[in-house]
This record gives sequence, C-alpha cells and structure tokens, in this order.
Amino acid sequence: MTAAATDRIRIALPENSMRYEQDLEWCLVDGKDGWREIRFHDYAELYTVTGLYERVFYEILQCSSPSTVRELLVGAMNRAGADISQLRVLDFGGGNGIMAEELVKAGVSSVVGVDILSEARDAALRDRPDVYQDYHVVDMAALTESEHAALARHRFTGMTSVAALGFGDAPPDAFRESFNLVEDGGWIAFTIKDSFLSDRDPSGFSGLIKSAISDGRLEVHASETYQHRIATTGEPLHYKAIIGTKKSDLPR
Ligand SMILES: C[S@@+](CC[C@H](N)C(=O)[O-])C[C@H]1O[C@@H](n2cnc3c(N)ncnc32)[C@H](O)[C@@H]1O
Repeated sequence: MTAAATDRIRIALPENSMRYEQDLEWCLVDGKDGWREIRFHDYAELYTVTGLYERVFYEILQCSSPSTVRELLVGAMNRAGADISQLRVLDFGGGNGIMAEELVKAGVSSVVGVDILSEARDAALRDRPDVYQDYHVVDMAALTESEHAALARHRFTGMTSVAALGFGDAPPDAFRESFNLVEDGGWIAFTIKDSFLSDRDPSGFSGLIKSAISDGRLEVHASETYQHRIATTGEPLHYKAIIGTKKSDLPR
C-alpha cells in the first residue's frame, strides 16, 4: 500500500502491481472512524467527502477530461464561427460540476446539470454553487414524462457528457435521451473509453455512436484520443473525445 498523505484527507491507493478492472479500482480513505475502502465507482460516497473526488481523480490520477473537452469544444466552435456564450448546455452525468466549471470558464452562460445521484447535486451546490443554473436529479435512461418536460423547457443548444458513459454508469439509452433533448444544430461534446467504440464492444455504445455519425445525425467537428487519467497501476487509460453538431434525433 502506498499512502498519499496530505493535511486534509489521507488517501491510500493499492500497490501499483495490483491490477483491477477500471470499475473495480478502489482507495482507502482515513475518516473519523478509521480507514475505509471506497470503490472509485461509488460516486455517492466520493461526493459526500468534500474534495475527495478532486483529490483522487484529478490530483493523484491526473484526469484531464474536462479541460480536454473544453479546449476541443472551444476550438471547434471558433472554427465554425459559433458563439459559445449563447450555448444552453445540458451537462449529463454532471457530478459535482467540474465540467460545468470548465464551460463557465469558456464563457457559456447557462449550464443545467443532471445526475442520477442526489449526492452529486448536493456536492455541486456545495463545491461549485455558481456554475449551474439548475440541477436535476434524474436517471437519464428512465425519464418520467414530467422530468422530460422539465428538461425540455430549457431548450438546450448543447450537451456535454464527460466520463459518464459505460462501466455500469450511464447506458446508451441515457446518451440517446440527452442527445435528443438538444435542438437540431446544437453542440454535442462527450468522452468515452476507446474500447467502447471498438467493433467488439457489447455495450451498445459503439453501434449507437457509429450509426449516429454514418446516418448524418451527428456531424463530427473534432475527435481526439487522449489520456483520460492513469490507472492505480500508473498505466494510461485512453478515452476518445468527440465534438459535433446534432442534425436530428437518434432513433429509439
Ligand atoms: C465519473 S462521474 C463524471 C462526473 C463529471 N462529469 C466529471 O467529469 O467530473 C459520472 C457521473 O455520471 C452519473 N450517471 C451515471 N449514470 C447516470 C444516468 N443514468 N443518468 C444520469 N447520471 C448518471 C454518475 O452518478 C456520476 O456522477
């Protein structure tokens, strides 16, 4: 066990010789009742401790996804002559607001968060109270009619989804629902682990995204494979960021 001690939260990660599937990685956190194990995908637990999500993923494991997406989105919109300040963005799987903060930094004036966890909204309001105009706690794969209507009222012209797809997180249906809530011509920016786009992917993402592009429903303006973060072994985890414009709804 190697310890990353700080004056705030003491965190211990597995030795880097121990290999885990990405959704089984874990850390130990020294709390007032002693050390406890938290799996990385137990987001509710991570969000509950102020600063823990940022320490584990951004400081220790060097996550670069939100800044990568911001840079690619800004570059693509500039090339297209589009005004980022006019975007009304649905930040799907928003967590505690790190991507939303990047959007506001880039000049976006309206960001609405959605997340399946009430702990995510609580953490966003606690950690970044000024970035979201509104935050809905909903399962994007199973929206009720009234939840859909409440989101549709925002008339989104953009959607971001960063590190939220796959791995027992959001399924393809949730991506489709978020995409379809954006007006035609709106901007779509998302990241997904590169293996979910391979021909052997059983999750359904590869087929959904590739057909969205080949059917002309999503016009790609930028796409880049990049290092999302490192694993607890220290090895790089590669994701793909895709920036595009929506031409029409994805079929159900
Ligand atoms: C790794 S976090 C990413 C948070 C943030 N985008 C970031 O980059 O820091 C993924 C988030 O997606 C949310 N999520 C997973 N499935 C979802 C669903 N079906 N509907 C809405 N949110 C979902 C999780 O609760 C979690 O907060």
